[in-house]
Amino acid sequence: MKALFRKKSLSALLAQAEEKEHSLKRALGAMNLTMLGVGGIIGAGIFVLTGQAAAQYAGPGIVLSFIISAVGCAFAGLCYAEFASMIPIAGSAYTYSYATIGELLAWVIGWDLILEYLFGAATVSVGWSGYVTSFFRDFGVNLPAALCNAPFSFDHASGWASTGAIINLPAVLIIAVVTGLLVIGISESAAVNDAAVVAKIAVVILFIAFGAAYVNSANWHPFVPPNTGAFGSFGWSGVARGAGVIFFAYIGFDAVSTAAQEAKNPQRDMPIGILSSLVICTVLYILVALVLTGIVKYDRLLVPDPIAVGVDAAGPALFWLRKFIKIGAIAGLSSVMLVLLLGQPRIFYAMSMDGLLPTFFSKVHPRFRTPHITTIVTGAIAALLGGLFPIGALGEMVSIGTLLAFVIVCVSIIVLRRTHPELKRPFRTPLVPLVPALGAVVCLAQMAVLPWATWARLLAWMAIGGVVYFLYGRHNSRLAPAKEDAWNA
Ligand code: ALA
Repeated sequence: MKALFRKKSLSALLAQAEEKEHSLKRALGAMNLTMLGVGGIIGAGIFVLTGQAAAQYAGPGIVLSFIISAVGCAFAGLCYAEFASMIPIAGSAYTYSYATIGELLAWVIGWDLILEYLFGAATVSVGWSGYVTSFFRDFGVNLPAALCNAPFSFDHASGWASTGAIINLPAVLIIAVVTGLLVIGISESAAVNDAAVVAKIAVVILFIAFGAAYVNSANWHPFVPPNTGAFGSFGWSGVARGAGVIFFAYIGFDAVSTAAQEAKNPQRDMPIGILSSLVICTVLYILVALVLTGIVKYDRLLVPDPIAVGVDAAGPALFWLRKFIKIGAIAGLSSVMLVLLLGQPRIFYAMSMDGLLPTFFSKVHPRFRTPHITTIVTGAIAALLGGLFPIGALGEMVSIGTLLAFVIVCVSIIVLRRTHPELKRPFRTPLVPLVPALGAVVCLAQMAVLPWATWARLLAWMAIGGVVYFLYGRHNSRLAPAKEDAWNA
């Protein structure tokens, strides 16, 4: 029983981070980290889900959904900033809970983060494939449907079905390319990410700037369309459900914290990277949602490329923007995969350094200084998921898993302030315990509106994680008595 609550001391954590054989390369400054955050955030959420959430749940009230979701993320972001400046280690929330609450919870959150990062990358690869096939179609090239779609489909009413397709090949290929880049180096990956981020921000700003002139304010009335009688179908419950769905759009700012061991000055730059990327994206999202629902009536937005539909609705004068939107979306989604596939191996790396996963997960390539083996394993599994499963089922797993991680991080901040008030906190979450408590409540509320099937899958996933821990991690942990002696010898 005691084993489940054994904690890792902060001094051990920090010392381990400097072990030569396993050390990552400190190459990232505040600007790179902010770009990494924006790289992880702006993606399928804004380019795909916004339209669907407006059309099905909230109408123009999706703007309010974006604000509600941003509040939850801002509170969680402030908690992440405190942790990332205090414990600048690659494992993010996994490491924070290992130092604060204990090994079992750390394992739970590490296992849960696989849903955010690995499943997140797979989800975005499916959105990427959709935009690429539609881009080719604009040039008269029709890629074969059997090779560009998942063989399985899922909806909550009728369950799983076979689609007749063989594999979503573009999704597999983009994951392979991104994985290759991540193996080669952190600086190279950051450079490609920077270029993709510039492209996608440019496109989003172009849409806001040119689209604003075509807004017809009649489209905003009523701003919150009346509820149809069913919970979540317009009205205020629709705004709430919309917030749960577009939460996906904000995921990624916390990925900044997984690069803590590659930051030049993590104490100062981690909070800057996390919070500024969140602020930039929140402002952009609210403006995009306002312009989009102002240009086109929300009921026309149930499409895979709502921003492009918004541009079309503005008329021929904006047709030139359509191709740029697609290029921006393709670049944008690539950078999200890059950031998520960068984050996952670094969490595995931290778990392996602690003995909870086999040692090959923390092997660092002698020349590239990247955790190459775990990067390749992560990429292979993400490619398989992206190649086989539909975006909806994957995306809901990502949202519920990430929300759970945020809840645990918020609660851990309150716990750690009580148990270790003396620790040096270069960044302090304001108004503790109010801010973390509200963060936990808003995230729990967003989990509550997700469908039961998603909860069932979360529980099944966590149960598998429990079995892995009790069969492997508990005995091999560096904090297990036998291992600890060997380690100290
Ligand atoms: N926030 C990321 C996206 O929207 C995961 O694609």
